[in-house]
Amino acid sequence: MSPHLLIVKDLVLEAGQLLLSYLNKNKNIRNKGVLDLVTDADEASEKLLFSKLCEYFPEYGILAEEGSLKESENGYIWVVDPLDGTTSFAHGFPFFSVSVGLVDMHKDPVAGFVYNPLLKELFFAQKGEGAFLNNQAISVSETSVLEKALLATGFPYNRREILDEILERLARVLNAVQDIRRTGSASLDICYVACGRIDGYYESGLKPWDTCAAACILKEAGGKLSRFSGEPFNIFFPEIVASNGKIHADVLRLLQLSSS
Ligand code: IPD
Ligand code: CA
Ligand code: CA
Repeated sequence: MSPHLLIVKDLVLEAGQLLLSYLNKNKNIRNKGVLDLVTDADEASEKLLFSKLCEYFPEYGILAEEGSLKESENGYIWVVDPLDGTTSFAHGFPFFSVSVGLVDMHKDPVAGFVYNPLLKELFFAQKGEGAFLNNQAISVSETSVLEKALLATGFPYNRREILDEILERLARVLNAVQDIRRTGSASLDICYVACGRIDGYYESGLKPWDTCAAACILKEAGGKLSRFSGEPFNIFFPEIVASNGKIHADVLRLLQLSSS
């Protein structure tokens, strides 16, 4: 791991510990939108990551979910989700993470950390160097038939406006695969594809901080990413299909609606 990424690894672990310290106290849960929550833990984690990233990497930009923004002087930007899975966290459902990715001047993810502090699982990748879970190399599954595939999905915060679309896709996928999971943390879902726990994942309505770090991890683990249409994925487009590659075309076919 490059020396600058070793620093970020420690920051991500520290932010994870900070999240845990809020689990059994008043989290001060508030609504940012009708369904979208924020807690004191989201804000404290972002404050920690933003101040330390500014201190250690003055030339790098920062784009973080709760509004912290810093322009880049060298073309590189840290893309930060201080708590991915706030709804799970707020309910004490044990799937949430800290996610810090790095994009280059082409807005391509070139490194990423996703950390679940409860399970003490740190996913990491650097472009060209492979993907790791707690220092063990990881790779995607070999599952090639949908009937044997375990998929994950998520339900976007604007779900009430596009419920028919979501349910139609869900019905088609559920009818074709072995089963579906919903953790409530997009970055963990993508990392679970990367390490072969699940074979594919899809969701719409996502933001760059939901996918940046995990996209790098999935690519380095041998997985495939695209939009629902099959066009190339990029972190600024809200749709993602992430898979082991072998079932990708079949998942895309399921996601095509007659109306789209
Ligand atoms: C959310 C989670 C969730 C996904 C939502 C995201 P947040 O992020 O990743 O799994 O379904 O679309 O917005 O708000 O908990 O950081
Ligand atoms: Ca998120
Ligand atoms: Ca978040």
